[in-house]
Order: sequence, then structure tokens, then C-alpha cells
Amino acid sequence: MLKRAIIVGASSGMGEALARRLAREGYKVGLVARRQEELDRIAGEINGSGAPRAFTAAHDVTDTQGARDCFDALVQRLDGLDALIYTAGVMPPVGAEEFDPAKDRSIVEVNVIGAMTWLDLGAERFQIQGAGTLVGVGSVAGDRGRRGQPAYAASKAALHTFMEALRNRLATKGVQVLTIKPGPTHTPMTADIEKMPMAIDADQSADGIFRAMARGADTAYVPIQWLPIMAVIKSIPSVVFRRMPLD
Ligand SMILES: NC(=O)c1ccc[n+]([C@@H]2O[C@H](COP(=O)([O-])OP(=O)(O)OC[C@H]3O[C@@H](n4cnc5c(N)ncnc54)[C@H](OP(=O)(O)O)[C@@H]3O)[C@@H](O)[C@H]2O)c1
Repeated sequence: MLKRAIIVGASSGMGEALARRLAREGYKVGLVARRQEELDRIAGEINGSGAPRAFTAAHDVTDTQGARDCFDALVQRLDGLDALIYTAGVMPPVGAEEFDPAKDRSIVEVNVIGAMTWLDLGAERFQIQGAGTLVGVGSVAGDRGRRGQPAYAASKAALHTFMEALRNRLATKGVQVLTIKPGPTHTPMTADIEKMPMAIDADQSADGIFRAMARGADTAYVPIQWLPIMAVIKSIPSVVFRRMPLD
């Protein structure tokens, strides 16, 4: 039987690339995001002229009340669920109004509250069925509080800790809980950023995420080169870190 995955944030970037990769690996996929036309385009390309393998659901993750109905409907269309991947995220450009609580709230609503809502739905189901894979896409940015994007970094740190707690809670229930920490990646989110050290493309990112899922990993830096780099960066004392030219 085909495996089944829901990808939240599937309309562009890493989520789109992962949807295509999972479909190539023999999954049926449920695609969630706000832009129905983009979801239809991707599902159409995956499905081609064969039997439908990709299903779509337009949904705004800030509508936490609507999440359960959306989740249940997709699980029904997929005829079950083996993996739930939360890759939806927002990162507004650094601007003059960096100290802007409305902007910070909008980041937390998508990157943290939306993630918790969807990952809770997956956790609840996978705990009962005693199997499943939960994936949360964080960021290397969540490993340290740099000067730029404080709310974005904090949102990813919150997601990392939430994933760790879910992992500890579900460790004995047969559920894989995987935290992905991507480095800079060429996607629509980063289209306006000029300096992107060691950047990879979305397909390479999807490959790293898929491989981490397949090997049953807990946490994966994508690409792996960020593992030793972040180990060094995390070990730098705060008093030194704040003097370093890292935005
Ligand atoms: N690109 C990087 O360098 C990088 C590095 C580290 C981590 N990340 C993380 O990787 C993940 C994927 O990002 P990406 O680079 O692939 O960016 P992207 O191309 O902008 O994709 C973001 C996805 O999130 C969805 N989304 C945003 N707000 C939403 C909302 N309110 N409701 C439902 N879906 C929403 C978007 O769909 P709609 O707009 O159609 O709703 C889109 O599918 C994000 O969590 C990001 O923080 C990215």
C-alpha cells in the first residue's frame, strides 16, 4: 500500500519540493497552504493523467479552529496517514520597524501556534496508531539569538523545543519526531536576500529531509555541513557572541 503524508506549507519552496519528492518515493500526498491555485498546479503535475496521488486543501494555519476539519478531511481522502510535515513559515524582511509587536505576533502565529496545532493533530493520531512520522521544519536561525530577526529566531527556537518535548513524549509509542534545521536555501522566502552562505536549492533540501525521515533521525541539519558549524556557534559565550559581526 502507498504511504500517505500531509505537507503543511506545500505551495512553494521546500514544501513543494518535498511534496514532489515524497510522491516520487511512492507516497500519496495531502497539500496544505493558503494559495489554492499553487496547490492545484503542483497536484496537477504530480497526478499527471494517472490515478490521483495528490490532494489539496486551502487553509490558513492561523485559523486554528479550522485545522481539525482540514486535517480529518485530508486523512479521509488519503485513506490514513503515515507522516505529517509542518514546513509553513514566514520570515518578513528585516525593516526599519524591527521592534514591531504586530509583525512579531504574525510570525509566532504561523511558525509556532500553527505548527503546534498541526503537529498536535498528527501526534494525537500517531500515538493511537502506534506509528507515524512527525516533521517540523525549524532553522539554524533558531540555534542562537542573532541581531537580525529576533522574533523569527525565537519562533524557530520554540519549535525546536516543542519538537524535542513531543519526541520525549512519543519515544515509547513508535512515533518518529524529526526536527529539521535548514541553513540558507534558495526559495521564494529568500529571493530578496543577497548574501546566502552555503545556500542550497529546494530540491537538495527536500532530499535532506526525505533521507532524515527514511533513516529515522531525531534532528537533521540540512545540509549536514551546518552541524559542525552550529556546534561551534552554539558554544560561543554570549559575551563574545554579541561582539561578532553576525546579523
Ligand atoms: N529558505 C530558507 O533559507 C530557510 C532556512 C531555514 C529555514 N527555513 C524554513 O523552511 C520552511 C519553508 O520555507 P521556504 O523557504 O520553503 O519558504 P516559502 O517558499 O516562502 O514557503 C513557505 C510556505 O509556508 C506557507 N504559509 C505561509 N503562511 C501560511 C499560512 N498563514 N497558512 C498556511 N500556509 C502558510 C506558504 O504557503 P501560502 O503562502 O500559499 O499560504 C508556503 O507554502 C519555513 O518554515 C522557513 O522558516 C527556510
